[in-house]
Amino acid sequence: MAKNKTSFICQACGSVSSRWQGKCEACGGWNTVVEERAESALPASMAPHKRGQAIQFQTLENAEDAKTMPRMVSGIAEFDRATGGGLVPGSALLLGGDPGIGKSTLLLQAVCALANRGKNCVYISGEESAAQVRLRAERLGLAKAPVQLANANQVRDIMATLDDPVADHDVVIIDSIQTMYLDTVDSAPGTVTQVRIAAHEIIRVAKKRNICVIFVGHVTKDGQIAGPRVVEHMVDAVLYFEGERGHAFRILRAVKNRFGPANEIGVFDMQGAGLVEVPNPSALFLPQREEAVTGSAILAALEGTRPLLAEVQGLIVSSQLATPRRAVVGWDSARLSMILAVLEARAGISFSNTEVYLNMAGGLDVSEPAADLAVAAALISAHTNVPAPHDCVFFGEIGLSGEVRPVPQAEIRLNEAKKLGFKRAIAAKDTAKNGTLPVTEITHINDLLALFPQTGRKMKAV
Ligand code: TYD
Ligand code: MG
Repeated sequence: MAKNKTSFICQACGSVSSRWQGKCEACGGWNTVVEERAESALPASMAPHKRGQAIQFQTLENAEDAKTMPRMVSGIAEFDRATGGGLVPGSALLLGGDPGIGKSTLLLQAVCALANRGKNCVYISGEESAAQVRLRAERLGLAKAPVQLANANQVRDIMATLDDPVADHDVVIIDSIQTMYLDTVDSAPGTVTQVRIAAHEIIRVAKKRNICVIFVGHVTKDGQIAGPRVVEHMVDAVLYFEGERGHAFRILRAVKNRFGPANEIGVFDMQGAGLVEVPNPSALFLPQREEAVTGSAILAALEGTRPLLAEVQGLIVSSQLATPRRAVVGWDSARLSMILAVLEARAGISFSNTEVYLNMAGGLDVSEPAADLAVAAALISAHTNVPAPHDCVFFGEIGLSGEVRPVPQAEIRLNEAKKLGFKRAIAAKDTAKNGTLPVTEITHINDLLALFPQTGRKMKAV
């Protein structure tokens, strides 16, 4: 007879240790280790005395089904785009995000849209009563959608409900996975063991009945999906719903997707009546510019397969401090230090007596190396007090020797810039052949400096 024993599990990374410790040895998290009763018995469906059966193989040639995989399209284009073209029956998704960012609102809008298109949708909330969800739907103007609402926490009940061939559900929302629990598991809801087993059992039934199930997952302070890092491996797609406090726009980002491209994004605007799609996000992040200002450059970025134009702002002020301040919003601070070092070593621009501030305007978070060139242009412009060339976008990676390197998908970036009225681009060599927009090709950061006339002069003097 298998017996239950306790073990100590880190709630952040799921690693198991034999004794309690203040700091998790695997992920370095403080105070994340919690004692849990580990379930050593297999679930009843995997009873050890049962004899296995031979597996039925399929050949690759016959994998026709994959190509014609049906998609459930909600009609909310930004949601469909982020999921890779619609929800796949029998798949499991995890949606993570900070509290209050709008996860429940997004999924309610999505299932209402799907239900209005004839899909059989269920919204199970462990956090809010059915009346509360209905109230929200009314506020969103979706009270008429034929979605079935329920408040439930017991995984056993949920499994029994889903495992019903007559009901024939298409989409099931579990809001949130941290509130679900299995009464045979002797640990509190939200712990790693509970979350893992609850997700596993629900996914098993959903796959069997060809139901698409979407789990909501809370995230911890440092932005990881709390507890269920383990769940990320079990599901077919992991989506994050992100946004800056104080900004109304929200980005739905696919970080993993077995049925579509990863890093695909959908952009929404949170308004009084729910989330509204933003079909042209570049317009959101571009400034309303009348005349050229210094310390500003437009970046042609790429999020997944989608081009996005954004304004990079740099500010430089003199400082008496031994270690002047460097502050970055929306970009990597290590990358900023690198660009400053390259500008100093390769182009002779010194920032040692100045504070440097860098901001991606509009609250966007950019992680691409392609932003290097726009950042350098904004900093040079701030340093020289000469506006960066007007009607011009920048993209390119900068290496440590000051060389400018090409970045992928130049064509998409150039077309987006053209669409939004830009007249030319400054990018690495071999970029011009890709697009319809005139490109000034540069190979070294000194070529960029030459575009700012006063610096060109100052540079010769150095
Ligand atoms: P919610 O979907 O409950 O967030 P989550 O499930 O991620 O915790 O969203 C709650 C926030 O959204 C709340 O601060 C209010 C705001 N909101 C609007 O601005 N407009 C709306 O129409 C709705 C329903 C919510
Ligand atoms: Mg919620």
